[in-house]
Amino acid sequence: MGQIVPDAIERYLAGLNRLADPVLQDIARTGEQQDLPLIDAEVGALLRVLATAIGATRILEIGTAVGYSGIWLAGALPPGGMLLTLEIDQERARVARENFARAGLADRVNVIVGDAQRMLAKVSGPFDLIFQDTDKRLYVPLLDRLVALLRPGGLLITDNVLWSGEVAPGFTEKPARDPADTRAIVEYNERINAHPELMTATVPLRDGVAIAVKLGPSELRPMLDTLARATRSLRDADFDDDARHD
Ligand code: DHB
Ligand code: MG
Repeated sequence: MGQIVPDAIERYLAGLNRLADPVLQDIARTGEQQDLPLIDAEVGALLRVLATAIGATRILEIGTAVGYSGIWLAGALPPGGMLLTLEIDQERARVARENFARAGLADRVNVIVGDAQRMLAKVSGPFDLIFQDTDKRLYVPLLDRLVALLRPGGLLITDNVLWSGEVAPGFTEKPARDPADTRAIVEYNERINAHPELMTATVPLRDGVAIAVKLGPSELRPMLDTLARATRSLRDADFDDDARHD
């Protein structure tokens, strides 16, 4: 849904994707017929690349739906790795479990049925990667709990942060989304970009994907100090050619 990038470019990107497998394609087809809010293969590929890049072994997902994004995520896990995925709808969770089994990933996926806020109070971290794709009005209320569950250097990835472009004032004259959802995402975007423990980049792929890394004293602060020193010396450097000939 809600793509931001022009059609021709989206089609081109979809055509480049060589990662999808027949099970994923079948779930995507069924999802489209049933109008389910699934991510697209391009976002799935991004999730799998990021999970692989950080060597994720423990992944948490909020909003399983029928397991489509979960298959992309769990596909990056090594044997013994784990995807914990939360879904409020019992029937969707049942279908998701079937789909994880079809994809050969049942051994590393745990689908938990229940209210995300209540379940997250019981879940123990740390996680290497968290994918947030639940009810948009829960994004802000769940944020601090998710940051707490993430290891330093771990990624919080959020779907739908551009919400068909409606988060951007002036993008459309006729908003079609529920204004309360749009406001919730606008507030969430402001929070993750200003959060003292997160460094965030937003990618305008499909409906908008925010990628935030959790900062931590042991792993990231030294790197940030190095970067800050490098920036200072760059700023102080004298690049004036004439000065060197003096
Ligand atoms: C909706 C939710 C999603 O997570 C998504 O990717 C697309 C649409 C929705 O609630 O409409
Ligand atoms: Mg989504």
